[in-house]
Amino acid sequence: MRKQIVAGNWKMNKIFSEGIELINEIKQKAGTVNQTLLVVAPPFILTTEAVKMLKDTNIGVATQNCSNKPEGAFTGEVSAQMVKSVGANFVILGHSERRAYYHETDELINEKIKISLENNLVPIVCCGEVLKERENNEHFQVVAKQIKGMFDSISSDDFKQVILAYEPVWAIGTGKTATPEQAQEMHQFIRETIKNSYGSEIASNLSILYGGSCKPGNAKELFANPDVDGGLIGGASLKADDFIAIANSF
Ligand code: PGA
Repeated sequence: MRKQIVAGNWKMNKIFSEGIELINEIKQKAGTVNQTLLVVAPPFILTTEAVKMLKDTNIGVATQNCSNKPEGAFTGEVSAQMVKSVGANFVILGHSERRAYYHETDELINEKIKISLENNLVPIVCCGEVLKERENNEHFQVVAKQIKGMFDSISSDDFKQVILAYEPVWAIGTGKTATPEQAQEMHQFIRETIKNSYGSEIASNLSILYGGSCKPGNAKELFANPDVDGGLIGGASLKADDFIAIANSF
C-alpha cells in the first residue's frame, strides 16, 4: 500500500521566529491526523530547529532544494549531506520555481536526485506543464519528457525511495486548481509511465502528490481520486489550520 502524504512547501516565507511559531502550531494540531504522513519544508535557516522540534513526532522535515555537488567552493549552496547531517529526511527537487527562476534543467535535477539518494534523503520530485503547453495539448508529452530526463539512469532500488509531485505550473499560486479529472488523468498517466520503466509493483507503491492551489476547500475532491496520494501544498501550508485540514481531507 502506498503512503498518503501531505507536504508543506513554505517557499521563501517566514522569518525564524514566525517559522518556530508555525512549526509549534502544526505540531500541536497534528494529533488529529491519522494515516497521512505530514512533511514540512521550511527555508534552510529553520531546518535544524524543525528537526529538533519535531523529533518525537511523525512529522517529517524537508528542505526545498539541495546542491547537485557534494561539497566545495560553491558559494551559497547547501549539500545533500549537510541536509542529512541535521536530521532532515526529505528534499523537494525540481520545483517549477527552481526551473523558471534558477534555470534548473532535467539534467541538473537528475544530478540532485542522485546525490540526495546517495545521502539517504527521500526526494520529492516535481513535474508539470506550463499553461501554453496545456493549451497546445502537450502536457502528457512534457511530463513524460521531464520524468525521462530526471530519472535517467536511476535504478529500481533507488526509485523506490522517490515521491513524485504533479504540479501544473498554471495552478501554482494562482488560485486556479486542476479539476479532479485533470489531476486524475495526469496522475494515472504518470503511474503508467513509471510502470513502463520500473514495473507495476514500484508504480503501484509510488506516492504521487498533487500541487497547485490545493486548499481545504478542494483537497477532498482531489484526494478522492485513485491515483492522487496527497498534496504538495504551498500557500495553504503557511496556516497550520489549513495545512491540517488538508491532511484530514482523505
Ligand atoms: P500553491 O503552491 O499551493 O501555493 O499553489 C504549490 C507548490 O508550489 O508546491
